[in-house]
Amino acid sequence: MASVPSLSATIQQRIADVLGADPLLRRSDRADFQANGVLGLAKRNKANPRELAAKVVTALPADGELIADIEVSGPGFLNITVSDAAITNILAARAADGRLGVPSAEKPGITVIDYAQPNVAKEMHVGHLRSSVIGDAIAKILEFEGETVIRRHHIGDWGTQFGMLVQYLIEHPHELDASPEGSDGEESMSRLDRVYKAGRALFDTDEEFKTRSRKRLVELQAGDPETLAIWQQFVDESKIYFYSVYDKLDIAIRDEDIVGESGYNDMLVETCKLLEDTGVAVRSNGALCVFFDDIKGKDGEPVPLIVQKADGGFGYAATDLSAIRNRVRDLHADTLLYVVDVRQALHFKMVFATARRAGWLTDEITVKHIPFGTVLGKDGKPFKTRAGESFRLVDLLDEAVDRAKSVVREKNEELSEQEIEERGAEVGIGAIKYADLSTSLGRDYVFDLDRMVSLTGDTSVYLQYAFARIQSILRKAGDARPSPHPELPLAPAERALGLLLDEFGNTLESVSETYEPHKLASYLYSVASAFATFYEQCPVLKAENSVELRENRLFLCELTGRTLHQGMVLLGIRTPERL
Ligand code: ARG
Repeated sequence: MASVPSLSATIQQRIADVLGADPLLRRSDRADFQANGVLGLAKRNKANPRELAAKVVTALPADGELIADIEVSGPGFLNITVSDAAITNILAARAADGRLGVPSAEKPGITVIDYAQPNVAKEMHVGHLRSSVIGDAIAKILEFEGETVIRRHHIGDWGTQFGMLVQYLIEHPHELDASPEGSDGEESMSRLDRVYKAGRALFDTDEEFKTRSRKRLVELQAGDPETLAIWQQFVDESKIYFYSVYDKLDIAIRDEDIVGESGYNDMLVETCKLLEDTGVAVRSNGALCVFFDDIKGKDGEPVPLIVQKADGGFGYAATDLSAIRNRVRDLHADTLLYVVDVRQALHFKMVFATARRAGWLTDEITVKHIPFGTVLGKDGKPFKTRAGESFRLVDLLDEAVDRAKSVVREKNEELSEQEIEERGAEVGIGAIKYADLSTSLGRDYVFDLDRMVSLTGDTSVYLQYAFARIQSILRKAGDARPSPHPELPLAPAERALGLLLDEFGNTLESVSETYEPHKLASYLYSVASAFATFYEQCPVLKAENSVELRENRLFLCELTGRTLHQGMVLLGIRTPERL
């Protein structure tokens, strides 16, 4: 495993050595790169920018080894063109490495990432899609960079509604029983849903049931074994359902990583005591609250974080605060990430500030809410059914797979029914994930299946076709082997593709610094587009009569395929060999 610094990083470094400052190297359409950092530096040092730039030109000769051409332009820009040989050589070094030359973190830390957190006894909706897809990609990318990643699925498995659910089941004991044929996820969910609705209806109309439910909640919170056993049935049944959805979504969730709200029960009392003893939280009308100078409601009154309600019940905040203590103290995290809807931004802001005041979060620990925006319908409003309900996630997934199947069928008539099934799932689920991941974080996007499964444009299908086409070229190559030939001059499309492939590691580095998977998505799209141009302009198998040229182009194809594959693996998207 050899890490390969990119050409851009090497040039950046060499110029920085001469200048003693960041040259601000950028891709450019006049040359391969342009550095415009000389201007600012000259200004700061009251020097002549063109003279300073000339110094760089002298120090970095265009000897063809790395640089083919370097010139001063305008007021003191540097235009740099790298040599064709340097491009082919660096790609050869990447190809020789199993990680494509991407370095592993020198000092990997421990990141706890909180994502994919559906709620027990409730349908998963489109909001859970986003958290799961984005979280899964971030976790994979960090892991690839060498970080130790601990996944936490903070499922909603605790709270007042469980008093009602458990009480209902005690009074209607067989309502959750599976049919004799056993149970799949969908059936589990429909039983849970029935119990939920029936319980709710009774709760809203029958005062006595309401009272019994409230008592039941107290039993649950006190850890009464019978009550807990029934509560556990709801959790287990829900997990069957969650796993079926995650299976469809092609996201692996491990049981030991599911530590829901209930997982912190034992810590809640202590968490509150610590907050109260240190004065971080104060009693206000019986409730234990944390106040913030800068957080006020519309009426100008301060909005507190309520850690414990006046009736003694613990809320969402107490759980999250306890989870922070657990993640820092017991899991030794130095980074805490939360992939959660942007609508919970205020909650996390208050929770983090509280944990800082309490000393549970220190400056050494990075904590970050990674918010995501809302999924919209074509009308630009939050994506809801006509009746105003959230779409069931499974229905959306099924529909995407159906659409994808027809695309696949149309495009390739030779596929068997089974292949169409498989490809359909890979394309359909990939399409949903990609649409989500290619949107920059925090932004809303429109759920438009037609666009998502389209063969053209910025879609996963486009990337998958690029990958499959490359595999088909490699299969057809016969005896010709992909192999780099640095002695050959490169066509413009080859250079463009090559320089992009060289940026894979830099892209990943930036994604793991900013936690923005859309940068990887858009990088892969540029690679696929550059490949399309290359393929149009540079015949591969019919490459004139030169064996070397054919081999070098096959080499570019192969490295493009490997880069696309690795990138898509990290996004959680499949790359079928044939489409
Ligand atoms: N279960 C919550 C929901 O469905 C998300 C939980 C987010 N994570 C957390 N640590 N609060 O909205």
